[in-house]
Formats: sequence, structure tokens, C-alpha cells
Amino acid sequence: MLKLVVLVSGGGTNLQAIIDSIAGGTISNAEIKAVISNNPRAYALKRAENAGIEGICISPKTYGTREEFNRALLAAIQSYEPDLVVLAGCMVVIPEMMVKAFPNKIINIHPALIPSFCGTGYYGLHVHEKVLERGVKVTGATVHFVDEGTDTGPIILQKAVEVKPGDTPEILQRRVMEEAEWKIMPQAINLIANGLVKVEQGKVLIDGGNQ
Ligand code: GRF
Repeated sequence: MLKLVVLVSGGGTNLQAIIDSIAGGTISNAEIKAVISNNPRAYALKRAENAGIEGICISPKTYGTREEFNRALLAAIQSYEPDLVVLAGCMVVIPEMMVKAFPNKIINIHPALIPSFCGTGYYGLHVHEKVLERGVKVTGATVHFVDEGTDTGPIILQKAVEVKPGDTPEILQRRVMEEAEWKIMPQAINLIANGLVKVEQGKVLIDGGNQ
């Protein structure tokens, strides 16, 4: 049974997709041990409570330095002894010491097709604003392992989404969530939970597929 700790910051729709996928059986062999938010007001914590999952808040505002926050966050995560740390709408910059503690055991969902529209400053709605500004016809979402960089780790799954005339950033964000994020995040967790994902020379190999 793959033990998950899910890190959140906001609405928690990706967390909800994971909760629903475990309940519905499209994710097998995995359980969420805890949900950790940096934001005490994150609705994601309410979603965890509703699902009977332990939810805690580790807020940077309650620590004197970023270093102290990073250490407290890592200690909290490690206390659950996870096999996989899932960043689901998590806005916290993951410190190097955490990446080193969980090599290729942290995954993130990015709301674009990496290496497009990613890196510092590309998060949440800003991503979709830049997509519309550039006028691309296709965007999407990416699930990737987290390494020391920003959105630079090995790519696990991607799913394309059409940009439509008249899209606003909000409309596009919703479509990317519905058609891509909420599908590939659970799918990636299920593949990992069932031993079908490995990383070789920085590339992800998925058993049974030609990825
Ligand atoms: C989503 O766009 C996700 O891609 C990004 O944060 C946004 C909110 O996610 N990482 P959620 O609803 O909190 O899961």
C-alpha cells in the first residue's frame, strides 16, 4: 500500500480528484495518510476533513525564518513516513533538503505542457494568462517528479487541452483542470502505486506503455 502525503495551498480540487479516485478504485494500492497545507484557510483542508483524512497546517507565518519553516514542514511530512509526497495545487517552493530527503518521491501537477509556460513565476492563473497572451492553440497539464529545479524534474504524464476562441484565463484554467489535471494526477499516482513507473537517466519509463 503506497502511503501518500498530499501538500496543498488552496481549493484542493486536485486533492479531491485523488480522494475520489481512491474511493472509486481508479487508484488502487494507495492511501492518503495526511494533507498538509501552508494556508490555514485552504478549502483543501475542509475536503480532507470531509473525507476523514488528517489535515494539518504548517504556515510560514508562524516561523521566524524560512529555514525554520522548511525544517518544520519536512519533519511533519517525515512523521507520516510517506512513500510518495504529492504536490496538489501546492504553492510552497520545495527546499533542496526536502528533494534530497525524497529523491524521485515527490510529484507535482503543473497546469501547462512543460517545458512550455513553466518555471519561476508560472503558477496558477498566471500560466493561463501567458498561454492566452502567446496565442497558442494547445495547452494542457503535466505531472512530473520534483527535482532541485522549478518544474524541471522527469515528466511522468502529460495531457493536451484545446485553447478555444473567447477563452479567459479562468475558463481555460477550469478546462485544463477538468480535462487534464484531475485525470493525469490520479493516473500517475495509480501507476506509481502499482510499480509501473521508473526513472532511467532522467527519463520516466512506464511499463506497458511506450512513453
Ligand atoms: C491548479 O491550477 C493547479 O494546476 C495548480 O494550482 C491550481 C489549484 O489547484 N498547481 P487545486 O484546486 O488547489 O488543486
